[in-house]
Amino acid sequence: MREKKLVFPKGFLWGSAVSAHQTEGNNIYSDWWEWENSQRRAGELEALPQDPSLFRSGAACDFYHRYEQDFDLVSALHQNAFRLSLEWARMEPKQGFYDEQAWDHYRKVLQSLKKRNVKTFVTLHHFTLPAWFAHQGGFERAENTGKFVNFAQTAAQKLGEDVDFWLTINEPEIYSSHAYLFGRYPPQKKSWAAMYRVVKNLIWAHNQAVRAIKQVSSKPVGMSYHRIDLLPRSIFSKFLRDLVHYVNNEYILRRTINACDFVGINYYGHSHIGFFGRHAHTQEHHEVNDLGWGIHPEGLERVLVGLKKYHKPIYVTENGLADAKDEKRERFIRDHLYYVHRAMERGADVRGYLHWSLLDNFEWAHGFSPRFGLVQVDYPSQERTIRASAYQYAEICRTNQLTLP
Ligand code: BGC
Repeated sequence: MREKKLVFPKGFLWGSAVSAHQTEGNNIYSDWWEWENSQRRAGELEALPQDPSLFRSGAACDFYHRYEQDFDLVSALHQNAFRLSLEWARMEPKQGFYDEQAWDHYRKVLQSLKKRNVKTFVTLHHFTLPAWFAHQGGFERAENTGKFVNFAQTAAQKLGEDVDFWLTINEPEIYSSHAYLFGRYPPQKKSWAAMYRVVKNLIWAHNQAVRAIKQVSSKPVGMSYHRIDLLPRSIFSKFLRDLVHYVNNEYILRRTINACDFVGINYYGHSHIGFFGRHAHTQEHHEVNDLGWGIHPEGLERVLVGLKKYHKPIYVTENGLADAKDEKRERFIRDHLYYVHRAMERGADVRGYLHWSLLDNFEWAHGFSPRFGLVQVDYPSQERTIRASAYQYAEICRTNQLTLP
């Protein structure tokens, strides 16, 4: 049988993604640091069988000091794009005080990528906040959003030259629900009303931040949306599926997309919606990752095609899996890219794919156990080892094509 090659358009961006708190380490002025080290969290961790230190970010991957070495890996793996986030808590550790050393640090980080000819995607809010901002009520209070907008504009002014794509907010859907409805992330609230307030304010913050960035920079601005492929369990539950789809996937997007120059999509899987609730992730006949999330590559095609109606360029800004043994990652990447290509054939304007993640890192409330990295990190020694799947992905990046068996 002849091999078939799926060729991606010239200039397609290939890369990987990280966020600041998950990789940098010692993010001591942030709300997450405060929470990880709080009495309340200590009480929760006591009840778990694992070592509590696995749930405190500590030095994480020490990316703050090792970024040059990590960007050498990005280049060695033929990636031409990289996504990271700026840690507002480092840059404005006290309200109104900008720490110039931290700003210089991020300038160097971005320049180090530019030096390697790597396009930069920069997120302004990836789940963490400066502790002072969180103490003032964070995004729950409408009057606070202006502070984020100021930060966004200052970042665009000071660092914009080395940024190719701005992302205002990472996954407002996940942030608002996990922190304000499910009580999983700080401030651990469980209130529909609080979540609704946060959603409203994030929408406003995004739209204002785009406007503010555009006053000082000509770089494209977008947002990373979390998209779940939602399927009805039977024809009778279709209307329920449509309702959940609207709440989960569409509510924020429809109110923010007009301001965006492009759409960022984070895709991890699917859920079936039935009368007896939502059957998240695991689906009888599907493979699962180490966290039990179902692997469902075909959903990515549906998600991407579903975004065509917005007529914006699309970048997959996250897609990945926890797979410590690296048994499923290569196939995962190939299968997802197959469906990305199919979506493009059906007219979805996809221009890049960023795998989550370059490195194993601090997986929020799950701590350090899940291994999402193309590169394995041995935390005690901070030694990096490139996983076999990363070399396979590198070949796709290098050749700009996917060879089908
Ligand atoms: C987040 C990442 C996270 C990943 C895997 C996304 O929701 O943006 O920070 O590590 O999913 O759970």
